[in-house]
Amino acid sequence: MDPDRPGLLVVGASEVVTMAGGLRRGATQGDVDLVSGEDPIVAIWDGAIAAVGPLPEVQRRLAADGHDVASFAFLDAHGGTVTPGLIDPHTHLLFAGSREGEIALRQRGASYLEILGAGGGILSTVAATRAAGEEDLLAHGRRWLAEMLRRGVTTIEAKSGYGLDLPTELRLLRVADALGREGPIEILPTFLGLHAVPPEFSAEPDGTDRFVDAVTEQMLPAVAATGHARFSDVFCEQGVFSAAQSRRFLLAGAALGLAPRLHADELAPSGGAELAAEIGALSADHLAVPSSEGIDTLSRAADGPRPVVAVLLPATTLFLMADHHAPARTLVERGIPVAIGTDFNPGTSPTPNLPLVLSLAVLTLGLSPDEALAAATINAAHALGLGETHGSLEPGKTADLVVWDVPDRRQLPYWFGADLVRAVVKRGRVAWTSEASDRGGPERSPA
Ligand code: NIG
Ligand code: FE
Repeated sequence: MDPDRPGLLVVGASEVVTMAGGLRRGATQGDVDLVSGEDPIVAIWDGAIAAVGPLPEVQRRLAADGHDVASFAFLDAHGGTVTPGLIDPHTHLLFAGSREGEIALRQRGASYLEILGAGGGILSTVAATRAAGEEDLLAHGRRWLAEMLRRGVTTIEAKSGYGLDLPTELRLLRVADALGREGPIEILPTFLGLHAVPPEFSAEPDGTDRFVDAVTEQMLPAVAATGHARFSDVFCEQGVFSAAQSRRFLLAGAALGLAPRLHADELAPSGGAELAAEIGALSADHLAVPSSEGIDTLSRAADGPRPVVAVLLPATTLFLMADHHAPARTLVERGIPVAIGTDFNPGTSPTPNLPLVLSLAVLTLGLSPDEALAAATINAAHALGLGETHGSLEPGKTADLVVWDVPDRRQLPYWFGADLVRAVVKRGRVAWTSEASDRGGPERSPA
């Protein structure tokens, strides 16, 4: 927002996808709520949505609220579609190094868990991240956040989990918190305390249990005391952390104010979906291979007061060259709210590109373009506990939106891999434009 001009009018759109109407699930997963026809407008005042609708209606509303429209700045959508800002509800934003060598290992038949078991995978990133300083992590974070922003992402979740010792975990969460304050992308940090068992514990026969004890009893209270983390997370997976170990850690985190979410049933059915429903987690993520009982429990939870959002990560199954993808159609048919995310990380999904994931959700999961868009906006907001303030263009909500260079939102997954963003608005401010260098921000109305 221009400090002199807290008002911004987004004009010239072909359509405005509001996503009004709350959490999507079942038959409503693909309801986008559209304003089209003559002159659909989004009016923003002081960082929040003031009005959305056809021009005359918006003018009336602004006048009733005492605003002088002549004082507003303009952002011309040039016939493009306008959607809420994209929300990435699952990223491992911060780490050091890269793991391109694992592609060849997998091509030769090694599995993800075999590479991890041999001390590679997550553990090689842990070694690199422990050696990285705060400045290195800040620079890395800024680089990848810039990639996300120019693809229309306005809010992300960001996990720790590549330290697995207290100093490094605290550093990762401090950096995530600092990058969020720096903006423009808003960041919700997650303490991924149980991601893998680090070498100083794994040498012992009962090393996994001793590590779970140390993380739950010592690290968790220290992390909670900093106030930097919003959520806790665990890699609940056969051969990594059991449902019982995950339950203990997540419940201890919840008691300290960290809302639980989890990596559930990514590689094998491991009781993750069941656990998510049992403890009322905000989300169960991956669900590439949930058990039928797991789907049943999520379906029952979806009818209750605390639905668990299924956060599906189709770039990960693609990048792992898996022969299966999450059963998205079944989840939708069973009334379970579906969101999508990148899972941005150096091992299983080195892509910051959420619009590409929108395409993958259509092409590999069988979601419709509108179902996928709801998954990356309003349902992703709900997966982060932000459903009341983010994820849709409704009066009073945070003014986060994207102007796209296509006239119809159904073209977003269609032009897959193309960069289609014209402009990104975060909290009412133009945060990025495709012509930033020559345009210099929002156009001014003649005052
Ligand atoms: O979501 N599976 C656990 N965590 C990440 C991968 C982390 C890594 O391989 O570095 C995931 O797939
Ligand atoms: Fe992940």
